[in-house]
Formats: sequence, C-alpha cells, structure tokens
Amino acid sequence: MTDTAVLGVRRLWIGTSWKMNKGLAEARSYVSALSDYVSRTGLPGVQPFVIPSLTALAATRDELGADSPVLLGVQNAHWEDQGAWTGEVSVAQAKDAGAQLVEIGHSERREHFGETVATTRLKVAAVLAHGLVPLLCIGESAEVKTAGESSRFILEQAAGALDGLTAEQVGRVLIAYEPIWAIGENGRPATVAELREPFAALGREYGGRTKGLLYGGSVNLDNAEDLLGIDHVTGLFIGRAAWQLPGYLRLLEIAAAHPKAAG
Ligand code: PGA
Repeated sequence: MTDTAVLGVRRLWIGTSWKMNKGLAEARSYVSALSDYVSRTGLPGVQPFVIPSLTALAATRDELGADSPVLLGVQNAHWEDQGAWTGEVSVAQAKDAGAQLVEIGHSERREHFGETVATTRLKVAAVLAHGLVPLLCIGESAEVKTAGESSRFILEQAAGALDGLTAEQVGRVLIAYEPIWAIGENGRPATVAELREPFAALGREYGGRTKGLLYGGSVNLDNAEDLLGIDHVTGLFIGRAAWQLPGYLRLLEIAAAHPKAAG
C-alpha cells in the first residue's frame, strides 16, 4: 500500500465518494477498470481517490492491490480506537481494512447524524494520529450564503476542526469546500464567480499550508475545467458525476489536461 507520508506528491486531487451506493460486484468492477486505466495512462499530476461504502472497502483494496496510485477512503470514522460504540467503525479499523483517507464532516453527516465542529476536531486528530489523510468537508447553507456570511462561516468550521494542530499536522489535511446549496439532487451548480470569494478566503488562511483545497458540489463534465481554474483550487470532490466509471475517467482526463496538473 502507498505510504501515506508520500501522498500528495501529485498536484490535483480528483476523488469521488459513492455515498450509500454500490454492492460488492459493482464496486469491484469499477475499481478494477479504474486501476487498469490509471496504470495505462499514468495520469501525471493527478491524484485519484475513491471513497466506497465501508462494506466494499476491503474488496476494493484487494482489487487495487498493493501500491496502487488510486487511494481509498472511508466516509466517516469514530475517533476512539475501540470500545462500546455500537454501529461505529474506528479510524484504526478503517486503516486495517485499507483506508488511506477519512472523510470528515460532510454536510449530510452534519445534518442527519449530529456531526458537530467538536466531533470533526476529534476525528481530524484521530485520523492524523493514525497517519491517514483527513478530508475535512466544510460548507454553508443557502441561508448563510444569502446573508453574505459564506466565507466567515466556512473559515469558522475549518478553524474549529483544525484547532490545536501544529503547522505540520495542518499540512497533512485536505479541505473540501462543499456549499450545501450546491450538493446533490436538490443542489444547483455553483458558478465560478460565486466561488471566487470563498476560495480567496480559504486561500488566505490555508493556501499552500494544507495538502489541498478541493471543491465539491454538482461537479460535472461541463464545469470541471472551469472549477479547477479557480485560484487556490487544487482538486475536485465528486458525487453523482463520478458514480459511473466513464464519468469519473472523463473527469480524471480533464484534470490531467489542466495546466495546474503540470505545475
Ligand atoms: P454531488 O455530491 O457531486 O453529487 O453534488 C458532492 C458531495 O456531496 O460531495
């Protein structure tokens, strides 16, 4: 398996979370074809990652094999290593089953499963302690955006989750800005103009200090290139448009052809 210490040498992070989708057979065939594609093309400058359901984690890890350039993650993990936490899976267990990244604080988890700034902080610390990469998701609601508070809100979410970390630890974190109003079936794609200010704010605070600043929310084949062009954006975190492999491969190609992939 790829040593997490060397993760992030590729410049553009292009990944997908499958959310609560795909059984084992579909998961296996997706990553096996992805792996073939990545070996064939090399994808210079692009760091692919896939975040399957937990049930498919070990199977996808086996399918990818050791030292795959495709990184695997989980959509959530508990901060304690073990214990009486029925229904939860720890970072240690996720690592044991093949996870290299751990998604933290997705808005669906904040809305439906009580994830708070305090729990995101505990999880980021646990993920770092195990040498994995935290993928911290932040994003504001439509109401916060309408009030003109987007940047203040997301900076507070990020600062809360990263509170107490050293600069070296912050340097191992990926941040994904995913405005709630832009995510999923009920979201509408954000325009480049709408994203400039939040990314300028994130860039002032975290540009060059984290492993990457990703954008997520209704990313698709038509807007990916423009989104990658926004100042400080160093990757995309994709749902629906990458759930079928051809969509994901096309997005990887768009990224590989982007000037930012060349440095
Ligand atoms: P979407 O999901 O690309 O389907 O909008 C993004 C996300 O929730 O991370």
